[in-house]
Amino acid sequence: MTRPVIVALDLDNEKKLNELLPKLGKPENVFIKIGMELFFNEGPAIVKELSKQDYRIFLDLKMNDIPNTVYNGAKALASLGITYTTIHALGGSQMITAAKEGLIAGTPIGKNVPKLLAVTELTSISDEILHKEQNCNLSMEQQVLSLTETAKKAGADGVICSPLEVKSLRQNVGDNFLYVTPGIRPAGNDKDDQSRVATPAQAKEWGSTAIVVGRPITRATNPEAAYEAIKKEFN
Ligand code: C5P
Repeated sequence: MTRPVIVALDLDNEKKLNELLPKLGKPENVFIKIGMELFFNEGPAIVKELSKQDYRIFLDLKMNDIPNTVYNGAKALASLGITYTTIHALGGSQMITAAKEGLIAGTPIGKNVPKLLAVTELTSISDEILHKEQNCNLSMEQQVLSLTETAKKAGADGVICSPLEVKSLRQNVGDNFLYVTPGIRPAGNDKDDQSRVATPAQAKEWGSTAIVVGRPITRATNPEAAYEAIKKEFN
């Protein structure tokens, strides 16, 4: 099986989407990440439509609420035809389990249940915020590991993490789990606002299940060629 390269669209409206998508190649060869910007502006209809066109979709909404609300939210998302979606591991094991149950309940008969990925600590959270605002006494590394273990026990299918964390998480949490990693830059690309990055080849070597790549593809002169080159390097 080829390992997925997911294009982070980071767009906020359908017009921009329609300009970019045809430049990425045939829908059945394209895996896209849709975030809050597009979803909140255009609504679930756009996700359904793209799924109908055969795009594979990672819907990144990072749910975090009481278990009953997340169950109902996840159930609704499961009818849109998506492959991956996200929750915050900080919402706790009951919430994670509820999300998974909601996805199962909402998946139409004969379709695959979307994979549930947990976000541990956001990369925007510094050690200082972790200790002073979240009042967490663990190191960032211990906290990420602990949340990953919680997510796995509660029924998540994987985590979003840095490619630099995959090796140690695989050792501690095991291989029977998905490790989906942003923060990817092919050699020679601008790092933009990412600080610790890996190339697609390094992500492969270190064990990423799938990589999320935005600007190196979306801002390339030839996005399809850039996308295909990254797929090749990762596989
Ligand atoms: O353009 P770039 O390749 O940096 O985009 C990476 C994508 O992954 C963006 O959608 C970004 O929000 C997301 N992301 C990230 N780092 C994380 C979590 C998500 O870059 N830790």
